[in-house]
Amino acid sequence: DVQRSLVLVKPDGVRRGLSGEILRRIEAKGYTLAAVELRTATSEILAAHYAEHEGKPFYGPLVEFMLSGPVLAMVIEGQRCIEGFRSLAGATDPTVAAPGTIRGDLGRDWGLAVQQNLVHGSDSEESAAREIGIWFADLA
Ligand code: CMP
Repeated sequence: DVQRSLVLVKPDGVRRGLSGEILRRIEAKGYTLAAVELRTATSEILAAHYAEHEGKPFYGPLVEFMLSGPVLAMVIEGQRCIEGFRSLAGATDPTVAAPGTIRGDLGRDWGLAVQQNLVHGSDSEESAAREIGIWFADLA
């Protein structure tokens, strides 16, 4: 099915000037962009976006990190793009993410309280619908 996924270049990716490289990989894969916007998150947006992680030990540092600078928020579109983007992104931990993936090629462990892993991508159709509603209410 044609799907949409909510993708974020997290503050570490924007700060390191990797937005273009990450967009390039998404477009080179053949997904299209339904929306792209440089945004600074808010506590309200992040509380909704990361509701499932509330109470976990990394939740506080994660929210603080996500507020530390702008993110490039986008909605990508294509057949099976949810699974496809997660494959492009690689494993959550950039130290062991496979070479060839965004996290494997461009990420590393910086010894910080939270995994700074460059990108977020929705993990299911349900999450995608929920997250697109949070970040791009007019597209939902
Ligand atoms: P993501 O999967 O996009 O959303 C949750 C984020 O929390 C994840 O990316 C990482 O940035 C971070 N994270 C997940 N697990 C851990 C962990 N065990 N320790 C630190 N940070 C984590």
